[in-house]
Amino acid sequence: MANVITYGTFDLFHIGHLKLLQRARALGGENGTLTVVVSSDRFNLEEKQKHCVIPHRERAEIVGALKCVDKVLVEDSWEQKRKDIIDNNIDIFVMGDDWQGKFDFLKDLCEVVYLPRTPGVSSRDLKNKSGI
Ligand code: CTP
Repeated sequence: MANVITYGTFDLFHIGHLKLLQRARALGGENGTLTVVVSSDRFNLEEKQKHCVIPHRERAEIVGALKCVDKVLVEDSWEQKRKDIIDNNIDIFVMGDDWQGKFDFLKDLCEVVYLPRTPGVSSRDLKNKSGI
């Protein structure tokens, strides 16, 4: 069993998000846990220049309602990851492979795993396709 953590925006929740969270939870094994840290609207806008269609409260509620998710936290800074990992007794830090190598500096605290993204879908594409 392992405690797993992952971070993301999860705007316009789609199948790539679901698959990532299910695979992240599976890494924890039986009796493991999955904590998902959902980025705030301010963090997205000011730090990632990303405008969210769905407000943070609703993105967090959708993620928290999933069977594979045990706990939801808010992401509001780049620096909080070390504290989140320690405070939540995390064994495995997971991100999609669009972040490959970017979080290797956390390897002194826990295992760092990059999972392959589901091809052909992203929040950006959905926004573009629907003219948002
Ligand atoms: N993700 C994935 N497969 C996809 C899209 C996202 O596995 N097709 C993963 C990302 O790698 C990340 C998590 O889902 O670990 C949350 O990603 P997020 O940035 O919210 O989703 P995107 O759809 O990539 O958003 P955007 O297009 O705004 O970058």
